Amino acid sequence: MRLDVLFGGQQVAPPLVTGRVVCVIDVLRASSTIATALANGARNIVPLSSADEVITRAKQFERSKVVLAGEQKMHAVPGFDAGNSPNEFTSEIVDGKTVLLSTTNGTNAILALQGARDVVVGAYVNFSAVLALLRVALRGGTDVTIICAGRERNFSLEDAACAGRYARHIREVASDVAISDGAFAATLIDQRYGDRLDELFADSEHGRALTDAGFGADLVACAQVDACPVVPIYQDRQITRLGPDRER
Ligand code: MLT
Repeated sequence: MRLDVLFGGQQVAPPLVTGRVVCVIDVLRASSTIATALANGARNIVPLSSADEVITRAKQFERSKVVLAGEQKMHAVPGFDAGNSPNEFTSEIVDGKTVLLSTTNGTNAILALQGARDVVVGAYVNFSAVLALLRVALRGGTDVTIICAGRERNFSLEDAACAGRYARHIREVASDVAISDGAFAATLIDQRYGDRLDELFADSEHGRALTDAGFGADLVACAQVDACPVVPIYQDRQITRLGPDRER
């Protein structure tokens, strides 16, 4: 079995996706926000490619049943119920609701995927839950690809480090899994930071940009390993929480 780690959307090619279990990572902040919303009871999350699409799609829902969410250049879209800060997606706001979400990188990385066996959304906040699913896939004979959404389709340090943490834990119990150079490089970045996620975020361009824009509290939220023990799974153009009714 094989584990690939890709950095940014431009590396995504059909052979690395088709028939595989694919894990999309956008630690800052879309993946962390999606896991938080599902852990706090959101019914589902519909990833969309623009704020305009959120507004259009919302017309299909009763207003009280839907949360309009998303960011542009890190800030909440004016008039929306929430931006892209995990802390905004409390149970008071999302419980039982459909979240329509548009972000610059994360939602588009998910929407670009076609042909995967399963697409899941990984972050630090749901690390162990997603790790368990990836291990089961590999044990069952399915290759795994981790896609780091990155920033503007380019490499981002925090997504690579998180991917490396997944790769390291997979190899710890399955040394027969072949890993790509990308996966190996990611493990080196993970080793460099270990559990010092505050240092990781301080070194990352996007982490620094979020701090400068006043979103320092989001970095703390995104560093809470396993705070949201859910597996977000993307199917039929929506993300739901994998549970007893949707076991793999
Ligand atoms: C994204 O999906 O582009 C990011 O989550 C951006 C952000 O931090 O809001």
